Amino acid sequence: MSLVHNAHLPIGVFDSGVGGLTVLNAIRQRLPNENLIYLGDTARVPYGTKSASSVTRYAEQAAKALIERKIKMLVIACNTASAVAIEPLQYLYPDIPVIGVVGPGAEASCDATQSQHIGVIATEGTVNNQAYQNAILKRLPSASVVAHPCSLFVALAEEGWHTGDLVKQIVETCLEPFKREDHSLIDTLVLGCTHFPALKNVIADVMGDAVSLVDSAETTANAVASRLEAGQLLNMKALKGDVQFLVTDGPTRFARVAQHFFSDPIPTSEIQLVDIQHFAH
Ligand code: DGL
Repeated sequence: MSLVHNAHLPIGVFDSGVGGLTVLNAIRQRLPNENLIYLGDTARVPYGTKSASSVTRYAEQAAKALIERKIKMLVIACNTASAVAIEPLQYLYPDIPVIGVVGPGAEASCDATQSQHIGVIATEGTVNNQAYQNAILKRLPSASVVAHPCSLFVALAEEGWHTGDLVKQIVETCLEPFKREDHSLIDTLVLGCTHFPALKNVIADVMGDAVSLVDSAETTANAVASRLEAGQLLNMKALKGDVQFLVTDGPTRFARVAQHFFSDPIPTSEIQLVDIQHFAH
């Protein structure tokens, strides 16, 4: 069957855990008719501190689990996995669009900047891999890009610590490098991690009005919509799409922590536990 006739199939979205629900939420808001399958690899989260080869293997296993369920598009919601595994996954699955969060986020930051000084915050893995830095410089070679890891924000976001004086102090301390004289010219900051949109208000407060924040969840949802439209893969049914949830560990914790990232409650009974570690390429 050609791709055009597969428009009714779901979009597969995967992340290292619960944070990718920010991307799922953005896709659901942008494309409410689409059916979605979300896989959170909660057994192996965090990806942000693991080696590129481990994350690539995990990403290939997550992708395979979704491909087996028949999807029309694969979205890598995890920034760390997008940074290291987009090319291997595009190579493995040439018949469907494979979209990561790094490209759309980088593009949006190039559109947003006036000063051509762009900051990126992400996990250690994403920063070290230089994926955002390279993607931005490819589009805007004259840009200056400064990236800093802010892994602590992942724990804050999962614990639901999104506001308050203590959170502000932590965010101020982590973002302090962007206030130093040599880096103070940035006018755009990319939130290059699934969890960071949950702390958007406090990050905006600390960075001030002169810095625009790029939420890679929103930009990815726009990229998903454009790719589906270009491939005539949009689901034209008037009904609201279904969302299916798969996790590799701890459905109860996933359901609890999900409330910080997803707009609707997710009952534990609707979360399926799956084993993906046996998949090999
Ligand atoms: N999903 C990861 C990312 O966007 C954050 C959590 C992790 O380290 O696994 O980079």
